[in-house]
Amino acid sequence: MKEAIKWVANTMPKSEDRRLSVMSLSSVAKARFFHSTFPQYSITPLDRLDGMAQYLGLAGLYVKNESFRFGLNAFKVLGGSFAMAQYIAKEMGRDVSEMTYDYLTSEAFRKEFGQATFFTATDGNHGRGVAWAANKLGQKAVVHMPKGSSKPRYDNIAKEGAAVTIEEVNYDDCVRMAAAEAARTEHGVIVQDTAWDGYEEIPSWIMQGYGTMASEAAEQLRQIGVNRPSHVFVQAGVGSLAGAVVGYFTNLFPNDPPKFIVMEAQAADCLYRSARAGDGSPRTVDGDLQTIMAGLACGEPNTIAWDILRNHVSAFVSCPDWVSARGMRMLGVPVKGDPVVISGESGAVGMGLIAALMETDEYKDLRDAVGLDRFSQILMFSTEGNTDPMKFRKVLWDGEYPTI
Ligand SMILES: Cc1ncc(COP(=O)(O)O)c(C=O)c1O
Repeated sequence: MKEAIKWVANTMPKSEDRRLSVMSLSSVAKARFFHSTFPQYSITPLDRLDGMAQYLGLAGLYVKNESFRFGLNAFKVLGGSFAMAQYIAKEMGRDVSEMTYDYLTSEAFRKEFGQATFFTATDGNHGRGVAWAANKLGQKAVVHMPKGSSKPRYDNIAKEGAAVTIEEVNYDDCVRMAAAEAARTEHGVIVQDTAWDGYEEIPSWIMQGYGTMASEAAEQLRQIGVNRPSHVFVQAGVGSLAGAVVGYFTNLFPNDPPKFIVMEAQAADCLYRSARAGDGSPRTVDGDLQTIMAGLACGEPNTIAWDILRNHVSAFVSCPDWVSARGMRMLGVPVKGDPVVISGESGAVGMGLIAALMETDEYKDLRDAVGLDRFSQILMFSTEGNTDPMKFRKVLWDGEYPTI
């Protein structure tokens, strides 16, 4: 029997919304400018799935394809790299707009700033991004991965010259380990992709870095005549990405924001549980958090992102693994005429959910609650490509996590 998708409409009391300004359009423009100075930078595709939209009874379905991001197969590098630039700018008493790739790799910069050590914990993608950016910018990186992390993901980080380990503890404990080590290290700083009380500046910069992806997508939609998506589907681990996307689009369309739907892996559905509790306070999920959606296996919400999400999201959805497996297959074997999107376990859950909502009446209540119909223009994010090749084949070729 396949497990059910669970969901809750957002009925939480609103906060003062002080965190929305983290994702101001001007901050995101700074991040996008920084990324654009890298020689490896190019805008990732916004894939248009017209055939799929027609099949599902939608006006449009647009997939931001992050498998092309900096050759790294995931969006995550956007956050870590911009946070590193902001950190260096602050240490030097300068503005981040001066921190271009050319400057950060110059002899003059090396003499003035030297080297810092950037610590982090990761399921794979964030650590790879931090390691890559540190490598490109001549900085040092130390990365801890939770129990059960896959070898290819480990290798990709080691390849960038970072000191990387797989630990016997879960993701959240790896975060604590990285924080403690950074505190003991001279010129050491933790660049973590989540916030907690007392650790907010760096995660805010990371969220702004993710804003590059949202700002590109908004521009690409405009270029094809879609001025505003009616719905934005975004997946969440700790919620930094979702907070960034929801915050950016809310600031872009303050009077008429799209409807936001946030998806999580059922094994780590801390935001869904927080929304279901209904009082506006975040809840956590602990344990091993076993899911194929490795990037979403986080049980403790980012406190900054949570404040944005609780105010602006329409529905929180908790998705079993089959939802993402089906999304991977649908994107990888598209309707005739549509582009192939290579999407990994954490990238494809949106596709699986959208199909589940539109194909049958099983989840009609959620479809109606968020107002999905033949006029809907949906934006979703395939946040990673094939980042775990063995798992990818098991799902696509061997049909793991079937829907029947
Ligand atoms: C591919 C991918 N998608 C989505 C996410 C979720 O991002 P967040 O933890 O900010 O919610 C992650 C996090 O690592 C990821 O690697």
